[in-house]
Amino acid sequence: MTPPFDVDEKFMLRAIELARLGMGTVSPNPMVGCVIIHNNRIIGEGYHSEFGKAHAEVNAINRVYNKELLRESTIYVTLEPCAHQGKTPPCADLILLHKIPRVVIGTADPYKEVAGRGIERLRKAGCLVLDGFQQEKCIELNRRFFTFHQKKRPFVILKWAQTADGFIDIDRTAENYGQPTWITNDLSRIAVHKMRTDESAILVGTNTAKKDNPSLTVREWIGRSPIRLVIDRSAKLPTSLTLFDQQVSTVVYTSITIPDRENIEYKTIISNGNEVEQILLDLHQRGVVSLIVEGGQKLLNTFIERGLWDEARLFIGKNIFHAGVKAPVFNGNLIKSEELDDSWMFLFRRV
Ligand SMILES: NC(=O)c1ccc[n+]([C@@H]2O[C@H](COP(=O)([O-])OP(=O)(O)OC[C@H]3O[C@@H](n4cnc5c(N)ncnc54)[C@H](OP(=O)(O)O)[C@@H]3O)[C@@H](O)[C@H]2O)c1
Repeated sequence: MTPPFDVDEKFMLRAIELARLGMGTVSPNPMVGCVIIHNNRIIGEGYHSEFGKAHAEVNAINRVYNKELLRESTIYVTLEPCAHQGKTPPCADLILLHKIPRVVIGTADPYKEVAGRGIERLRKAGCLVLDGFQQEKCIELNRRFFTFHQKKRPFVILKWAQTADGFIDIDRTAENYGQPTWITNDLSRIAVHKMRTDESAILVGTNTAKKDNPSLTVREWIGRSPIRLVIDRSAKLPTSLTLFDQQVSTVVYTSITIPDRENIEYKTIISNGNEVEQILLDLHQRGVVSLIVEGGQKLLNTFIERGLWDEARLFIGKNIFHAGVKAPVFNGNLIKSEELDDSWMFLFRRV
């Protein structure tokens, strides 16, 4: 019996909820969730939990105690089941092997090895396939993965902290670099570290590396640190900076040829005004699905001017600087805001 629409919706939403549990651990793979229903009851569910490990469909099917029931079940999966042999066998074949008659799919997979082949294989074998179900939510779930495959670049998140009067720093000269100026608060710092665990790479400009000496790692949250990236065209940054402590995999984009060191790769780029495009291309080739750009002003403005961004996350503190380094100006749709003690986080999407 075909379940009514609201029943399909309920189970697909559950599959989306499960998929989200893979955040920060499945990249460069997509987050995928799966629910199996027999007579309107969940008999198995699962999600893709780690890159290289079992897919959501495999985990959900393995959880079904009485496999005989699969022949009369519906399987809900947020992304088209794969049809190719990757790190794991094709999930479409597994569904056919267990003779699951009805398959509800959130969205087709943009990855060229799958791209409709999974759906086609299931349909040809006689499965009733409903695809594009809750598609918008399923694409939103994997917006990093979709951007990566469709735009051939990582999903780019611009992030900075600014004062209530719109500055990202006071004016600091080489003589008074001192400590970076603190704009927001502890809760914002935790939110930033949590955000880092969700993304694959994090980039800063030369001046930010020099003036702020950031570590760009995850310390206030549990999770993996993203790959650190820094532009240093003329290789002028001192190797005493924390970025060069070799604790985390780091890529330095430079025009000078320098031998790699443990955990530090010197990637040659051409100084031609298109450094950002070269970096994005390199990241795509490395399979880096998402990137946080954490400043400074010049670097952020380049991403904005060229339209090479997807989200901006602004942390706004209550301080007033009156003068200093101006925050970037951009056009975006406000998607979400969050109060963080006496600061705010605003999330925008590019218009
Ligand atoms: N509040 C915050 O959230 C936040 C975050 C980060 C930084 N900041 C502040 O921002 C300030 C630094 O900003 P900034 O604009 O001076 O420096 P920046 O953007 O960090 O670095 C600028 C330098 O990096 C290289 N670079 C940056 N973008 C490039 C591009 N698109 N193409 C080629 N090279 C590029 C260039 O170095 P070369 O010309 O030497 O090659 C450029 O002069 C600091 O005061 C820092 O504290 C604030």
